[in-house]
Amino acid sequence: MMEEIKKELRQIIQSVRAYMEAEKLAGIEEFYVEPLPKKQSLRELRQEVIKCRQCPLYKTRKNPVFGEGNPKAKLVFVGEAPGREEDMQGLPFVGRAGELLTKIIQAMKLKRKDVYICNILKCRPPQNRSPLPSEIIACQNYLTEQLEFINPKVICCLGKFACSALLGQDFPITKLRGNFFDFRGIKVMPTFHPAYLLRNPSAKRLVWEDMQKIMVELNG
Ligand code: URA
Repeated sequence: MMEEIKKELRQIIQSVRAYMEAEKLAGIEEFYVEPLPKKQSLRELRQEVIKCRQCPLYKTRKNPVFGEGNPKAKLVFVGEAPGREEDMQGLPFVGRAGELLTKIIQAMKLKRKDVYICNILKCRPPQNRSPLPSEIIACQNYLTEQLEFINPKVICCLGKFACSALLGQDFPITKLRGNFFDFRGIKVMPTFHPAYLLRNPSAKRLVWEDMQKIMVELNG
């Protein structure tokens, strides 16, 4: 996955370089890159996501799934991408994997409304296929800004796509889980995706160990 992202980035850099060299030949000597305007609030960011056309997924999804929960949550769960149910309702984790995530949250003595839940991609990939590197890159800024607004104490990455997009870590989740990593000063705990737990219930025990570490971090 990281290799594909790096390849795509290299292609983008090559195109920018070719463009700048052509401009230089035409006599342009200086470039000014205007920073992207920062949104003022999560609400404003949500409006931006609703209008987003940065990748083709907006053409096939029914509703964008921005995220939901407490905008000042101490704990944020980041999943992969909306599935069929999420796409229909415009809400994250409301299908079978979502039911399991809700149970995990309740076992932590929390409610869904106490935490914040979102995904790497805000739009459903057709037939629930895995996110493409170009889609992750197109959506990444939304997640980063979302996390900046919420500024949680802990982020829990659900599954390998969330880990590689947030942490740039391409190791198997079995190696990463159970350890805290850093994302811009915020502690990040990778763990198995609830959809994986539905197929492999014996891994629930490991996820519970990871949740206990998160609880110590939140309450300690
Ligand atoms: N799986 C995800 O990764 N996210 C959802 O919102 C639902 C299922």
